[in-house]
Amino acid sequence: MTQLIPDRQPRRLGRSDLVVSPLAWGMWRLEGSVAEVRARIDAALAAGITLFDTADIYGFGSPIGFGGAEALFGRALAEDRSLRDWMVIATKAGITPPRPYDSSAAYLAAACDASLVRLGTEVIDLYQIHRRDFLTHPQEVAAALTRLVEAGKVRALGVSNHSPAELSALQRFLGHPIVSTQPEFSPLRVAPLYDGTLDQAMAEEIAVLAWSPLGGGRLTDSSHPAARLLAEQGSAYGADAVAAALSWAMVHPARIIPIVGSQNPVRIRAAADALRIEWTRDQWYAVMQAGTGEALP
Ligand SMILES: NC(=O)c1ccc[n+]([C@@H]2O[C@H](COP(=O)([O-])OP(=O)(O)OC[C@H]3O[C@@H](n4cnc5c(N)ncnc54)[C@H](OP(=O)(O)O)[C@@H]3O)[C@@H](O)[C@H]2O)c1
Repeated sequence: MTQLIPDRQPRRLGRSDLVVSPLAWGMWRLEGSVAEVRARIDAALAAGITLFDTADIYGFGSPIGFGGAEALFGRALAEDRSLRDWMVIATKAGITPPRPYDSSAAYLAAACDASLVRLGTEVIDLYQIHRRDFLTHPQEVAAALTRLVEAGKVRALGVSNHSPAELSALQRFLGHPIVSTQPEFSPLRVAPLYDGTLDQAMAEEIAVLAWSPLGGGRLTDSSHPAARLLAEQGSAYGADAVAAALSWAMVHPARIIPIVGSQNPVRIRAAADALRIEWTRDQWYAVMQAGTGEALP
């Protein structure tokens, strides 16, 4: 029987020149001291992770505030300049509380400059539109993004929480490729299997970064039927349900890159166990059905 095996190799991020690891680490939940952040960065690098995902809004609603996660990450990088050389840094813009969305040209220009300052870097490797702004024409978004690339402020462009039609509309006005898309994806949230996100990614060589690959931690609750199957699968490889959940996403043919959300260095390091976990089709579909609670037709 064919085994589904995670691709363990570094790979190009979509049609960009950036090379990234098969797993990413995310900073939505980042807080704490610079020393704590450094410990998490070290754990991620030890797990072979080179793709680091943040956003200007991360920190909003917590004591560190809007921009706080980028600033904290930037302070950790400032303490050891050599770290930057190992990383592909991804950030996002376009959610601007209390205004839900703003991807106007003026907003993106200012937001990118602010992110560069907070991160303390001369260039952002991957700049993503966080969510679609219904009130900005994609031509205007594209023009703003083009200026950022041409000014050398960002290397590559991506989107998050965009439908395939939204991505295509933006691409229609862009001279540079959209190299990544970032949907929520886990056994608890399988919409990208059906809504064209993953098909578009495979057809157009777009990298897929999966957010909340544990359903925001819900898959660590062993009372959930999907968590039980994941734990069983993980234990067959000397790993846990978390590693199995990451592997479950990775073996999809779009070569999905799960974004590890843990802020615990031991757990971040253990994410590398995902690379060892293989699946049969039957096992993979059993987790999908347990996650959705629906039998496949
Ligand atoms: N584009 C978007 O709109 C969007 C939205 C949300 C997230 N994201 C990105 O995706 C990343 C990951 O999202 P996420 O944080 O929701 O990911 P997740 O992996 O689904 O959930 C992480 C949560 O699970 C907990 N957890 C992990 N392992 C555990 C274990 N063994 N036992 C108990 N709890 C455990 C973590 O707690 P500990 O920290 O204590 O381990 C953390 O609270 C974010 O950092 C961000 O980069 C993007």
